[in-house]
Amino acid sequence: MEPGLRRLYIFGAGGSGREIAWLAGQVLGDAVPIAFIVDDLAYVTAPVNGISVQLVSDVAVQEGDRFVVAVGDAGLRRKASVACIGVGLQPATLVHPRVEMSRFVSLGTGSVLCAGSILTTNIALGEHVHVNVDCTISHDVRIGDFSTLSPGVHVSGHVHIGKDVLIGTGANIINGSATSPLVIEDGAKIAAGACVTSSVAPGALMAGVPAVRKR
Ligand SMILES: CC(C)(COP(=O)(O)OP(=O)(O)OC[C@H]1O[C@@H](n2cnc3c(N)ncnc32)[C@H](O)[C@@H]1OP(=O)(O)O)[C@@H](O)C(=O)NCCC(=O)NCCS
Repeated sequence: MEPGLRRLYIFGAGGSGREIAWLAGQVLGDAVPIAFIVDDLAYVTAPVNGISVQLVSDVAVQEGDRFVVAVGDAGLRRKASVACIGVGLQPATLVHPRVEMSRFVSLGTGSVLCAGSILTTNIALGEHVHVNVDCTISHDVRIGDFSTLSPGVHVSGHVHIGKDVLIGTGANIINGSATSPLVIEDGAKIAAGACVTSSVAPGALMAGVPAVRKR
């Protein structure tokens, strides 16, 4: 648990928000209250799973208040992060108690690591990276800001993933090498179930086994 954490705000009260609220409850227990925040009055509803929903602009920020963003799309996650920082909130990092990782893993602020994931060694995650349930990340992997690993993604060793990359459920990324890492460039999308066998260009959409470029 982050020292000094007074209250956790979760941006987004949809499916991802409810899952991250569960994760936060597992990490924080009852000691830290949780609230959902949104940036549009249309999304302000009655409590969701017993958790209040309010506008980010209505948050009266106090010392120790933190946020995470529970939004899948990288661009929207960036926008939400800017809105939260704009009202004075600081990002929290959430790691489920059933995540296994060595001390040679660094996590950027705002990152969320879900239950069942395993990160081995010499791994660096940027800010606001989401690693969903049951992922594995092997040695010498870098993942850039606002990138997302969906459930059950496996990333082999010596892979460099850029910023704003989406990797769909059950995708596999084979290994690069120390002298020639496999690189997935910024903004790429890897379809659910794909097997990526070579480097991926910026913004490309890759699908299939082996993955081929669709766009
Ligand atoms: C990659 C993805 C984002 C593309 O979505 P999109 O932009 O709407 O793309 P389209 O559906 O138009 O598909 C583009 C092409 O890729 C193919 N494609 C899309 N997803 C595919 C998949 N999982 N496997 C194989 N081919 C796939 C389509 O058949 C289409 O091929 P075509 O051009 O030959 O007809 C989406 O398919 C996907 O896999 N999202 C991940 C979902 C996920 O894991 N969510 C987790 C939530 S926790």
